[in-house]
Amino acid sequence: MSEKKIVIFFSGNGSNMENIIKTLQNKIYVDKFGKEYIIKIPFVICNKRDAYGITRAKNLNIECKIINKKLSEFEVESSALLDFIACDLVVLAGFMRILSPEFCKKYKALNIHPSILPLFKGANGILDSFYSNMKIAGVSVHFVSEQLDSGEIIAQDIIYKIDGESLEDFERRIHELEYKIYPKAILEVLGCKK
Ligand code: GRF
Repeated sequence: MSEKKIVIFFSGNGSNMENIIKTLQNKIYVDKFGKEYIIKIPFVICNKRDAYGITRAKNLNIECKIINKKLSEFEVESSALLDFIACDLVVLAGFMRILSPEFCKKYKALNIHPSILPLFKGANGILDSFYSNMKIAGVSVHFVSEQLDSGEIIAQDIIYKIDGESLEDFERRIHELEYKIYPKAILEVLGCKK
């Protein structure tokens, strides 16, 4: 059976990585022509030695390649790994680094951001949404481009703010939305129907 190969990049907690692996690893899908594919996540890549996600990957029996190097070296090493397996899609999940324009052109890559883009780009998407005067908040999945949180949007979903809700609870609901939306967007980009 043909394979669709995904590699996930992360830097920290890794809960989206864990959810994507649990949801998609070894699942069989059909494309629009009726051809069957199995999804494979052969390994994940982390750029921080102390990231909690490394433990999550280990518990899921997924190899985690740690590349804790400056961007140019990170990209050379990760490219070699991606090319070796003929990776179909790179999935960024809490990957706290801006990839070079060359890397973004070479690989099809997705990112998830915890806000309704184009609002609240950057590292504080959840806090900025929480403290904004908007009544809704949400998450966005987009193609990775050379500009931060700015590539074409693939999927978005929203939650309504609840009066008096704590930041913790708000954050938990944002993450729950991420776990729902990201695997679906990945399948859509891979052309998998079910
Ligand atoms: C998520 O909120 C994601 O939207 C953002 O970084 C966070 C990563 O969380 N890009 P985790 O590492 O997946 O738990």
